[in-house]
Amino acid sequence: MESDNMEARPVSFSRTTITELMIPSYANFGGKVHGGILLSLMDKVAYACGSKHAGNYCVTVTVDGVEFLQPVEVGELVSLYASVNYVGKSSLIVGIKVVAENVKTNSVKHTNKSFFTMVAKDEDGQPTRVPELVLESMTDVRRFTEAIKRRKFKKEAEEKLATETSDFIMNDDLHLLDGQRCKLRLGD
Ligand SMILES: CC(C)(COP(=O)(O)OP(=O)(O)OC[C@H]1O[C@@H](n2cnc3c(N)ncnc32)[C@H](O)[C@@H]1OP(=O)(O)O)[C@@H](O)C(=O)NCCC(=O)NCCS
Repeated sequence: MESDNMEARPVSFSRTTITELMIPSYANFGGKVHGGILLSLMDKVAYACGSKHAGNYCVTVTVDGVEFLQPVEVGELVSLYASVNYVGKSSLIVGIKVVAENVKTNSVKHTNKSFFTMVAKDEDGQPTRVPELVLESMTDVRRFTEAIKRRKFKKEAEEKLATETSDFIMNDDLHLLDGQRCKLRLGD
């Protein structure tokens, strides 16, 4: 494992939770909480968690794996649990779990999870090194290794797609439209 002069920080050092009651102004026309409100809270908790680990302010680079598994209702208490899952040189990945609690019944549902890649910046706005991560539990190890695999699979998928789209040959890919809900009305 690579080592450097910065003092490594354990996952627990930067673990962060935000809890917020969902108010009526957060609702969409269907009466449920807007996905954008949840994404904004997720960005906020990722920013706090990542910056705390880095010892510098971070910027969000990518957001992966966002899935709205269940709707969140107005009046529910939403908690976002964030921890650093992985660190690179200047980047780190914050994993976030979102749960919503009905304050009257105390029933809890898991509504979201996501992985935010953040990059630490120095005073000049340049990417700067982040401390190594101390893995103190099997869960920490699982999350770190899963992040390595997720990064690898994403890179491979992006490379494959880039090759396929640069070699786009209309007639070879037309069969993909069979059975799809689209109509071909090509001009010249
Ligand atoms: C993120 C950013 C600093 C990367 O700049 P860059 O010149 O590509 O810097 P580097 O090539 O040195 O990469 C820095 C790190 O970012 C990572 N990175 C860059 N692009 C990435 C991507 N698309 N996905 C994941 N990681 C990425 C690199 O792997 C590298 O990680 P490492 O240091 O741990 O190895 C730059 O694109 C930026 O500032 N973006 C704007 C971010 C922002 O403002 N976000 C707010 C939301 S609007």
